[in-house]
Amino acid sequence: MSQNLKTLDNQGSEVDCTSLMQVHAGLDGIQIKTLETIILDLPYLWLRDNCPCPDCRVSATQEKSFILSSVPADIIAKTVELFGGELKIVWPDEHCSNFAIKDILDLSHERHNSSQTWREEFQPSYFDWSLFLTDQSTAINLIEHFIKDGVVIIDNAPNEPLSLELLATRLGPVREVLFDRIHNVCVDTHVYNVAHTPMALPPHNDFASYTHQPSAQALHMLVNEAEGGASIIVDAWQIAEEIRVDRPEFFNTLCQFAVPFREFDESNETYCVQPVITCDTKGKVTNVRFSNQLMQMIDPTIAGVAKFYLAYHDLCCRITDRKNYCTFRLEGGQVLLVASNRVLHAREAFNPTGKRHLQDAYFDYDNIANMLVTLKRNKESN
Ligand SMILES: [Fe+2]
Ligand SMILES: [Zn+2]
Repeated sequence: MSQNLKTLDNQGSEVDCTSLMQVHAGLDGIQIKTLETIILDLPYLWLRDNCPCPDCRVSATQEKSFILSSVPADIIAKTVELFGGELKIVWPDEHCSNFAIKDILDLSHERHNSSQTWREEFQPSYFDWSLFLTDQSTAINLIEHFIKDGVVIIDNAPNEPLSLELLATRLGPVREVLFDRIHNVCVDTHVYNVAHTPMALPPHNDFASYTHQPSAQALHMLVNEAEGGASIIVDAWQIAEEIRVDRPEFFNTLCQFAVPFREFDESNETYCVQPVITCDTKGKVTNVRFSNQLMQMIDPTIAGVAKFYLAYHDLCCRITDRKNYCTFRLEGGQVLLVASNRVLHAREAFNPTGKRHLQDAYFDYDNIANMLVTLKRNKESN
């Protein structure tokens, strides 16, 4: 089927460029051009590897069955034709690959709308617990806010312990760690962490001691009758971006210097050595690993400790700067859900005369983000 492809002419009007497209076959690959503009540069190995034909795919699952090692690295097309937005390639063994140019151009679209970082004027969005669990539009809206802001609050949650288990239908399975599946955070609990005291907690993400740190955290306040103990969140990606601009040498050090983290009790031991800032291959920040309480003594004989500490001092100053804080009181029956590779949580000290009981569970950011795809698909088919 032919595809119409739109482009803008020099007056800014949309025109169909399908008929203007031309194909040029070279030694390494082919180029698709409209007049003088190259719109696609496609290496032969890419083309052969991505053949969409039923012989190269498992029809039922759309998975690739063709494997690249079955052709030589210097494979060249025998013939190449372009007609009506369809690219047809015949290979030396007479295998034929047909591509819709539109499908190739669509690959540059993001799977999810991207995140938008924030500072202190930000306030998280609130969503109703029951609607989140029962209404698809609310669930889509909540997850879209979670991806954009890295945080949402779910209100009118049950005050029953272990209610976080019920969120698995929307957030995917609970991510377990060596400690309890659902953690109790109150002063009379098993103390393996400063969170189990009434002391203030600086912004942090949990289990920095895991190489694969939990990427989403739900903090469910069951009862909050304590005086003080306000909740604080900080967008660590915003802070990392500010450091990248203001002090690029500090940013690079925080990406490169590995730090030990440990969380343990009498029967568990978790430990890893990882940098504070992690980026993806495009340089986008994907994790800020920050836990003052779990960070261990760095071997001072390692090269670069002094340089690291200057960069880390700058990061600590920004993370504890109140102008980066979003502060609110988490009431009984509210769940704070954070993308914990990005949004750090903290709390002010409280007076434990009134009861304060929080339960924590971890989820996987990828499961939550990808739930949007199925929710949207289900909504369209209803
Ligand atoms: Fe925590
Ligand atoms: Zn094929």
